[in-house]
Amino acid sequence: MKNKISESKAKQTPKKKLKNKIRLGVNIDHIATLRQVRGGTTDYPNLLDMAKRAVKGGANQITIHLREDRRHIQLKDVILLSKSCPVPLNLEMAVTSQMVTIAKKYRPAWVCLVPEKREELTTEGGLDVKKGFSQFHPYVEKIQRMGIEISTFIEPNLEQVEASAELGADAIELHTGKWVQLSGVAKQKEWKRLCDAAEWAHRLGMNVHAGHGLDYAHAKAICKLPYLEEVNIGHSLVCYALESGLEGAVHKMRKILK
Ligand code: PXP
Repeated sequence: MKNKISESKAKQTPKKKLKNKIRLGVNIDHIATLRQVRGGTTDYPNLLDMAKRAVKGGANQITIHLREDRRHIQLKDVILLSKSCPVPLNLEMAVTSQMVTIAKKYRPAWVCLVPEKREELTTEGGLDVKKGFSQFHPYVEKIQRMGIEISTFIEPNLEQVEASAELGADAIELHTGKWVQLSGVAKQKEWKRLCDAAEWAHRLGMNVHAGHGLDYAHAKAICKLPYLEEVNIGHSLVCYALESGLEGAVHKMRKILK
């Protein structure tokens, strides 16, 4: 008899390498944020429906972060999406035994290891793989043994790239948040750090992913990052969706209120 795990695994097809195209992971955390500001009491927005809409728009994977404080994504979302999401699921998570148990049970295609602080507004800074190496190593082995691939969300720092390779990560996800915020010479320097880290990761046999804070302008620029295979984008897309969708939504309400 198929158990819950193998059922969800059966639906999780691996990510495809896209020829001449960067894979787009759409992070739907902030759609869940909108639901959770009303304590999850509304039946909208429907996360699976939103994931399907993102796929219609061209998303190659759906990315979610199940935080310890459950501020947006809930365990029920992980369960539903791991079973029914039409594209591979990328689960961002802190490196804790509780999260490893969840990953093993619901088997996303990928796990992205991220640092997590309760008080932060969003993921601030990358994971210190060098410092946490001996703590993370057994977890990484456990996750990969289940056929789940692993990326580490790190600052563009060569030591962190090397530590990720040693850890056995399949990919690094470079934190682009600082680069997005900077300007002038400091921005150019951060870009060089991103390029060096990407080159080094490729030489060490890892895939290169990037994410955080990317908007349309920075998405255009990030395409020039060497060996870039995947980006994960959330906040700007949810904002753009509001910008392009609010007029129509109000129009529909106006018609109802005749
Ligand atoms: N990648 C990682 C590892 C993240 O933690 C986040 C934010 O949840 C993102 C990408 C997406 O960042 P943003 O929402 O700023 O596009």
